[in-house]
Amino acid sequence: MQNEIINLLKREEKFSEKTIEELREVEINDFAEIIKEVGQQPTEHIVREEILNGLDTEVIGKELYVFKEVMSTNTVAKFLSENGAENGCAILSEKQSDAKGRLGKAWESPLGGIWLSIIIKSQVPHSKLPMITLATGVAAVKALERIGITNAEIKWPNDVMINGKKVSGILTEAITKFNTIENVIIGIGIDANFDVNVLSKELQEGTTTLDIELGHRVDENEVVRYFLEEFEKIAFAFNDNKFEEILKEWRKYSYSIGKIVEVREPFSKSYDAYVLGISKEGALVVEKIDGTLEKVISGECIIKK
Ligand code: BTN
Repeated sequence: MQNEIINLLKREEKFSEKTIEELREVEINDFAEIIKEVGQQPTEHIVREEILNGLDTEVIGKELYVFKEVMSTNTVAKFLSENGAENGCAILSEKQSDAKGRLGKAWESPLGGIWLSIIIKSQVPHSKLPMITLATGVAAVKALERIGITNAEIKWPNDVMINGKKVSGILTEAITKFNTIENVIIGIGIDANFDVNVLSKELQEGTTTLDIELGHRVDENEVVRYFLEEFEKIAFAFNDNKFEEILKEWRKYSYSIGKIVEVREPFSKSYDAYVLGISKEGALVVEKIDGTLEKVISGECIIKK
């Protein structure tokens, strides 16, 4: 982990006081302080002060770091969560060089996107992790509504779609000690203002951006602020065990319910099914061709019609 973070610092032009060799010798606590310092240096597109200015939250994003480029904001968040970051700390980067998507896939993160991770310091039960992902999707859709996008939907479990194309993805990672979740890292990518042609060929057709959908560039810092505010509201609902309320919102925005999908679960054969709804644990409830009902807990569902 320390090596990975050193790679992060190597990319920061402003960070020149210490050599890489010196950094390797730095105590882990001091190292976390160095990272926090780098995360407060000036950036061009995603700007710390602009996000914080007017941010109406109590906890989420109150501690906030913005980098020019990191490998993955989730990795930085993981490191900081174990080294002194507060609950609700947010980490952003203008670019990511080795970002992680769901199911072990890479996530392309060019300049012009919003690449954000939030640290939740709470011993969430394993069974509630899917609910965090669903809640984050709802927060994303609500943030988009605030910039005038009223037709965003959520494809189970966590893709935000506009007009059938993906605009945002969410990766929730749990940090466990002796099988107990200590911290949760919620990573979200929102394709805001870049040309989809910079993405690899296979992603171009299925991807859209906020810029394309609105017909003009968006203020990325404003979108981040709105997202942090919406995320806090839903996180408070989660803390108050208002799961039914969260699911109700999710159902309202669902892109998956009522569609025929190909279900691809890890380690099992894929099959076609009709999506009936979402269970109280956040699993997708589907009806197979032979009429049997299944709960899909992990994996992906490819929409067929
Ligand atoms: C997916 O749809 O596959 C999930 C994509 C999650 C991407 C975000 S961008 C910020 C954070 N850092 C990462 O490395 N991944 C997440």
